[in-house]
Parts: sequence; structure tokens; C-alpha cells
Amino acid sequence: MKIRFDKMTIAFKEVIAVNQLTLEIPEGELVCLLGPSGCGKSTTLFALSGLYKTTSGRILFNEHDVSGLPPEKRGIGLVFQNYALYPHMTVEQNIMFPLENKRVPKKEAAQRALNAARLCKIEALLKRKPSQLSGGQQQRVAIARALVKNPTILLLDEPLSNLDARLRIEMREEIRRIQQETKITTVFVTHDQEEAMSISDRLVVMKEGVLQQTASPQEMYRNPANLFVAKFLGNPPINVVKGSVSKNKVTSGDLILCEKKYPDVEDCYIGIRPEGFKIAETEEDLKRSFKVKVDYCEVLGRDTTLHFTINNEPCKAIIISEGNIKSGDIVNLAVRRHSLHIFDGVTEERIDELK
Ligand SMILES: Nc1ncnc2c1ncn2[C@@H]1O[C@H](COP(=O)(O)OP(=O)(O)OP(=O)(O)O)[C@@H](O)[C@H]1O
Ligand SMILES: [Mg+2]
Repeated sequence: MKIRFDKMTIAFKEVIAVNQLTLEIPEGELVCLLGPSGCGKSTTLFALSGLYKTTSGRILFNEHDVSGLPPEKRGIGLVFQNYALYPHMTVEQNIMFPLENKRVPKKEAAQRALNAARLCKIEALLKRKPSQLSGGQQQRVAIARALVKNPTILLLDEPLSNLDARLRIEMREEIRRIQQETKITTVFVTHDQEEAMSISDRLVVMKEGVLQQTASPQEMYRNPANLFVAKFLGNPPINVVKGSVSKNKVTSGDLILCEKKYPDVEDCYIGIRPEGFKIAETEEDLKRSFKVKVDYCEVLGRDTTLHFTINNEPCKAIIISEGNIKSGDIVNLAVRRHSLHIFDGVTEERIDELK
């Protein structure tokens, strides 16, 4: 099912939780809503599910306006952070529960529950109670219960945040697998950028109720629309220093960081990904390199992280370990062309390279 938000606003008295959201989610995609706490992710999800009413604007499923439809008429499966399983029921009864309300015959309900359990790989656990399951298994039950109604849209609100780090990674891969097997249009809410980057077809980043950017994870990482998005994606985060551009020279303090065709900008933020630096060795690289003093050198197997400053701002560069750089060394660094981004010093919007 294709989802479209058309200038959707949701306000709680004076708080505008979602502000004029216009966004399209294509059929069959897994889309992550990403942003810091309070940016309106859950509110957007609850609006989709029908639990919250839109203050203005519309929600359309396959171009049909569903803004006025109650939750049970929207064909949605919902999974929350706290699995909300019924403790006195077995796994099987939990999964079958949504079908009871729909008066599906017992035999058919049992078969559908089994199919959903197989999809989520919990068919061996059907007779257990939730208290006899691990966190990951409980979340699988919650997903099976959401899928048993054959919803056309699956909504997940921070479904992995109660799980430990290892299980989180395992379960996010499982959610991706289940989504790809069922091809169900899925909206996944998280504030974990790595989780979002790793599983989604498309990212939607929000800040204070306002959509910042929507793009594939790669595209957003490579071309962040503004400084907020640039800082939100990537770990370790992007390095940001103040600077200016004049005659195609990108300068911060007394260093020329690179030459790139930009309009002249008096005051800008320069963002460079930690992996966007390299040690200049070739003549070509040396010509466009700049010198920094390594304050601290951290060797982590394959990678080495160099800590230094540009224009008094602490920066990190991740380079392939060579073993011959020590703390205190002066090194020639060059910036890889596509790893440097310029943002306006006032609006913080991206400034594009000139063609
Ligand atoms: N029922 C409500 N009544 C009043 N204000 C609300 C209500 N629900 C949410 N808000 C406010 O709307 C804004 C968005 O909240 P929302 O729960 O959508 O954020 P979120 O992005 O899901 O955050 P988190 O990552 O913490 O879950 C917040 O400022 C919140 O305080
Ligand atoms: Mg939330």
C-alpha cells in the first residue's frame, strides 16, 4: 500500500508535534522515521494507525483519504517497544487474539497463527507463555501478532530498544527479512541512525516536527540537505568546522582544506566525514594537502583514528592503519572530494558544488 502524507499537522494544544508533513512512502518499501527524542516520530506513526486524529492535512493510502477512518478499518499491524503481550495467554493464543475480534473460524485462525509464527521463526514456542521467552523471542511474537491479520501496512515504534546490543542487530536483520518476504509496506521508527541506515530503503529525518530530508541511506549520507542531517548520520559523527569559501578555496582558520567549485561564501560550516581524510602521499595529493599535528593516535586493528584540530575545533580522521604515525607527529592530510560538505553559516542549509 502506498502511503502519502499531504500537509499533515498534528497539534496537542500549543505543541505542534508534526508540522505540515508532506511525504510519500512507496508500496513495498521499508522506511525508517529517524530523529531525536520529541521530533514527532511516534505521533506520525499513531496518526497513520488512526490512534491520533490529524489536526489538518490528509493521510492517503493508495490515494484514498483515510484521515477519518478508525484504526480497525485501516488494515494496519502495529508493534511497540514494550511488546504488550498478554501474560496469561500462550504464544499461540497471543498471535491468534486479533483474529478472535474479527470472528475468524478457530481452525483457520490456528493455521494463520502457525504461518505467522513460521515466518517469525517461533513455531517451536507456540505453547509457551511470554514469561518463558527471551526479549527477542517476545518481540518476534509481537511481530507475528501484528502480521496475522494480513495487514497492508506494518508500523513498528522503536521495536528493538528493549533488547541488548547483539540481539538488536539480529532482530533488525530479522525484521528486514520478514519485510522482504512479505513485501509489506513498513514504517519503522527509531532514533538509532545506524539501525535505520542498515535496514531501510528510505530514510525520513525529522526535527522538531518538521521533515528535514527523505532519501535512500546512501544518498542522505553522501548529500545531507542541512547541517542537522549531516550531524545526525554517521558514527563517529561528521567533523564540523567554521570557515569560508573564496575563489573555490575552502578555508578554515589558516588552512586551505580543499579546492572545489563553490560560490563564494563568507561564513559557512565545513563538514568532513572522519573517513573522508587521507594521508597525502602522491604528488597530486600533497599539492592539495594541509598539515596538522596529531594530538592523539588510536590504533584499532585495521583502522587508525587520528585526533587533531582544525581552527581550534577537535577533529577525527579514520585512516587505514599503517603503524608509523605517532601522537605528536605532523602529518599531511588531504580531503577526499566527496567527503566535504558546505553548509550556510546562518541557515545551515547545504550549499551545492557548482557544475
Ligand atoms: N498526547 C500528547 N499530548 C501532548 N503532547 C504530546 C502528546 N504526544 C506527544 N506530544 C508532544 O509532541 C512532540 C512529539 O512527540 P513524539 O512522541 O511524537 O516524539 P518522538 O519523536 O516519538 O520521541 P521519542 O524518540 O522520545 O519517542 C513532543 O514534544 C511531545 O511532548
Ligand atoms: Mg516515540
